[in-house]
Amino acid sequence: MKKQTILVTGCAGFIGSSFVRACKEGKEPFHVIGIDDFSTGRRDAVDKTIDFYEGSIADMVLLEKIFKKHKPSYVFHFAAVPRVSYSVEHPRETTEVNVVGTVTLLEAAAKHKVARLIYSSSSSAYGGAKKLPTKESENAPDPKSPYAAQKYTGELFCKVFSEIYGLDTVSLRYFNVFGPGQYGDSPYATVLSAWLESLYGKKKNPFIEGDGLQSRDFCYVDNVVKANLLAMHAKKDFKGTALNIAHGERATLREVKKLIEQYSGKKLVLQQRPSRVGDVRHSLADTKLARKLLGYKPDVSFEEGLARTVAWMEQRFS
Ligand SMILES: NC(=O)c1ccc[n+]([C@@H]2O[C@H](COP(=O)([O-])OP(=O)(O)OC[C@H]3O[C@@H](n4cnc5c(N)ncnc54)[C@H](O)[C@@H]3O)[C@@H](O)[C@H]2O)c1
Repeated sequence: MKKQTILVTGCAGFIGSSFVRACKEGKEPFHVIGIDDFSTGRRDAVDKTIDFYEGSIADMVLLEKIFKKHKPSYVFHFAAVPRVSYSVEHPRETTEVNVVGTVTLLEAAAKHKVARLIYSSSSSAYGGAKKLPTKESENAPDPKSPYAAQKYTGELFCKVFSEIYGLDTVSLRYFNVFGPGQYGDSPYATVLSAWLESLYGKKKNPFIEGDGLQSRDFCYVDNVVKANLLAMHAKKDFKGTALNIAHGERATLREVKKLIEQYSGKKLVLQQRPSRVGDVRHSLADTKLARKLLGYKPDVSFEEGLARTVAWMEQRFS
């Protein structure tokens, strides 16, 4: 089997580091190059055996050096400053990374004749879907935050680069990813990781907003990792197509709380807060297009993924 050289941006982050681990543990031989500036990532999450560069994806000089030296065939673009609320507080700073950084990376990838760039997009691009389950073709993007606008703009640039520079790209729109390696100790943590952190770690005062009947399509990280590998292997060009990557089932926050209590054997006491203004009530993806074009289907169920995540959190603090 030919050893592929791949560049992984954001390799110190939650999904990027899970992806690198899967590449290292899998049967396929990879030469992994990583880049991260540690703005949200963790030093201990970087695999020691990869060729790692500390710096920003918005730094063209650094990218030129990396592409020239390693000539990656595929680029997996996970790097971003994520989280909606942070982008509302810092719209310019987050645009620098999420848009300008993405375009800088696309420019280097096109110049160095990368076979395909796989872009991590977000379901936030939909801005709350009108129809459930959300199908790509029936729900025009309607971003409602700087983060959502940036992720969607990244998709548009991926498409433009496919059309005018001949760089094949695909945008994977992830829905609520969770799993081991997602820390819940930042003020911008996702609800699931923040709740788990409060059960085991120092973070206290977990809360729930509204009646808890809002639901999300929670997707275990291994399913997202698998979708990225399938996107790399697909024979046909994507030319910037955007695909939903999710579990395809939803759970309410009340159900999540109940399962966490069941798996941890601990009581999760949540402070009640009012509903968040503009919060999406339900999210549920239609993943048929990803199944058709990638052969994607989630291997790990929400319950199994949650059990593994609880076990990881428990072991972190034991
Ligand atoms: N986690 C989710 O639920 C979710 C959902 C939809 C989309 N996504 C997307 O998936 C990707 C990965 O998300 P994550 O949850 O792993 O986030 P994360 O914050 O854990 O990882 C992002 C990584 O990118 C790095 N980074 C940030 N700016 C950089 C820069 N300028 N140069 C180099 N590295 C930089 C960070 O240090 C971090 O290691 C992001 O693009 C995000 O928008 C995530």
